[in-house]
Amino acid sequence: MKNKILTEKYFILAYSNTNKPKHGSFTWESPSNIALVKYWGKSEPQIPKNASISFTLNNCKTITTLTFTKKEKVTKDFKVEVIFEGEKKDAFKPKIIQFFERIEEYVPFITDYNFVLETKNTFPHSSGIASSASGLSALALCIMSLEKEINPNISAEYFNRKASFLARLGSGSASRSVEGEIVVWGAHEILPHSSNLYGVKFPFTIHTNFNQYQDTILLVDRGEKQVSSTVGHQLMHEHPFANQRFSQAQENIAKLTEILQNGDIDAFVNLVESEALTLHAMMMTSNPYFILMKPNTLTIIEKIWAYRKEHDSNVCFTLDAGANVHVLYPEKEKEKIQLFIENELADYCQNRHYIFDFVGKGANLISIFV
Ligand code: DP6
Repeated sequence: MKNKILTEKYFILAYSNTNKPKHGSFTWESPSNIALVKYWGKSEPQIPKNASISFTLNNCKTITTLTFTKKEKVTKDFKVEVIFEGEKKDAFKPKIIQFFERIEEYVPFITDYNFVLETKNTFPHSSGIASSASGLSALALCIMSLEKEINPNISAEYFNRKASFLARLGSGSASRSVEGEIVVWGAHEILPHSSNLYGVKFPFTIHTNFNQYQDTILLVDRGEKQVSSTVGHQLMHEHPFANQRFSQAQENIAKLTEILQNGDIDAFVNLVESEALTLHAMMMTSNPYFILMKPNTLTIIEKIWAYRKEHDSNVCFTLDAGANVHVLYPEKEKEKIQLFIENELADYCQNRHYIFDFVGKGANLISIFV
């Protein structure tokens, strides 16, 4: 199949000033996602050094209402109030303003409005679960709903692509949260339509072994991370193993593409765990070096390996940029693994806290008032 390459220009539309609504609101819910092949390393503007692929989650999500009122007098600056879980949160404003600055070129109508952004997560705040993927994709979708009011002719495909494109400019992994169930972000020669600019649904038929794949997130450490993802990505610029890592990730995408179609769970387990440990190996071999895993992260990994061996199970783990462990397992092992988690892993979580989740279908529009 020939790949039609879309450029940034595709996301700049001419629109009529007459269609701009005066007042209204949109509410979207958008999920978090967990990468199987990791994105770690990027160049400007938010272009990944390798393709990444993730499971979209079902339960861990952000719900965002964006209320907009046309400014009486058009000014060039961005006006936005942020309310997080019912309380005014000025601390979140700079990140939102920075996001607006990055996307203005593509959605110039945002300077015509005063915005109120009300947002909440279904997972506990400071649980160590990154809310940037769900939060920025939810906001990008609200902005796309406003674009659709102004430009009603845009197709559903354009809507989702551009939502993912805008979300990427806020946070790379957010580009993978608009759709489900498996999403690829980053150009890869064997994946038709894959792009560095936005995420696309995995383009081939997924084997039934991966239906309703389970992800239980063990909250090992709720503390603030010592090193943010942003800094971690930057450290890949001078990293001695960077180029090998980026080509390994591209190879792993090709391997995983086969696995997802042929249902080889042993190969899946091997690849996913190797990706998780490679991500953390990159952190440990950066300069400055850092470790985000905690002693309990390692204990949990050892217990998962022991259980898998003893019970001939397919349970495995992955990690994101933190100490929490994502326990991945097929739907048919659900009962046994959930008992194992409660009986043997919960003690290693802060306040025995963990969250059951599974692969989901992507973001949903909850309401429109215009
Ligand atoms: C380890 O998407 O949070 O979770 O683009 O700087 O916002 P920014 O980074 P971010 O990085 C996520 C890194 C990761 C791996 C992944 O999700 O692919």
